[in-house]
Amino acid sequence: MTLSALVESKHEEAAQLIHRSLVSWYETHLRQGKRFGDDPKPFGLFPEMYAALDPGQAIAACDSSGALLGVCFAHPRETHWAVGIVAIAPEAAGRGIARAMLEEVLKRAQAEDKPVRLISSLLNLDSFSLYTRLGFTPHTMYQDMSINVPVGGLEHTPPPRAAGVRLALPGEASRIADFEAALQGIRREGDFRFFLNHTVGSWKVWVMEDDAGELSGVLVSSHHPDWGMLGPGVTRDPESAIALLWRALDARRGEASVVLVACVESDVVRKLYQWGARNIELHVAQSTNPVVAAKGIAFPTFLPESA
Ligand SMILES: CC(C)(COP(=O)(O)OP(=O)(O)OC[C@H]1O[C@@H](n2cnc3c(N)ncnc32)[C@H](O)[C@@H]1OP(=O)(O)O)[C@@H](O)C(=O)NCCC(=O)NCCS
Repeated sequence: MTLSALVESKHEEAAQLIHRSLVSWYETHLRQGKRFGDDPKPFGLFPEMYAALDPGQAIAACDSSGALLGVCFAHPRETHWAVGIVAIAPEAAGRGIARAMLEEVLKRAQAEDKPVRLISSLLNLDSFSLYTRLGFTPHTMYQDMSINVPVGGLEHTPPPRAAGVRLALPGEASRIADFEAALQGIRREGDFRFFLNHTVGSWKVWVMEDDAGELSGVLVSSHHPDWGMLGPGVTRDPESAIALLWRALDARRGEASVVLVACVESDVVRKLYQWGARNIELHVAQSTNPVVAAKGIAFPTFLPESA
């Protein structure tokens, strides 16, 4: 087995591998393979997106014939490195391939003296254990909430502050990144610049301000047919979170959306239940450095990984 950069000619194979490993793992362990559908094509968004965001950083594990055995997406940020989905061919699982790819990311981060962060499923003990054995510490637990917005919109009165939500301007990436850094202690201006001027995917960046003109929240939403998630985002308070979620959902009428909400944010969770949301999975954020004094409400996502 050798590790190398995932090249573009391998993107289709990577999409097939991600799909195959998820279907196999979730079917074998939870009888839920069907939730990933029959078509590997949508998973092509992963290599395509990461190649645009972090060229040359995705890791491929191949056998001696060059066949792909595993992929892992690494992305450097100003304050930390993040790890996107890790997927191993089912027939190659349990042989230390995921560990080897993760060790490579840890090495790159260590060289810059930065922590590594990720989101891992709480239903998947293999991946949870893989990360915690490598030195990650779990911190915030999230519930993955799925919500179908009727074609006519949510049958609820808009929250009081929803009218104050607007689309961010193309030049606001730095301001948004500063806002997140002040609350969460992580900075990733490149991601916000990417969402605002995207070449891959289809994104809207929603923001809201308080009476003094200061940002009180930001929430990105995907409008790509293969990726129906809200996030990443961060807000100062539950009121801003609820207003941003309502606005982002209202712009996705007739679609299903998934959003990760911190389980401790019960006001936000209850509001989403009122709007008809159902829990579909649980995830936990993990970091190689203790996460202390993070403020506000974060909405992580898997693409691009945004813990
Ligand atoms: C999760 C996944 C990436 C693991 O890949 P893998 O190559 O089989 O993992 P590895 O063999 O490198 O390592 C697994 C580690 O977890 C450990 N482990 C697994 N289950 C464990 C448990 N219940 N308790 C303790 N340790 C456990 C193994 O012992 C091993 O640690 P070690 O190397 O220190 O011995 C793979 O199962 C997969 O592709 N799953 C489907 C896709 C997926 O769900 N990805 C994760 C998205 S968050």
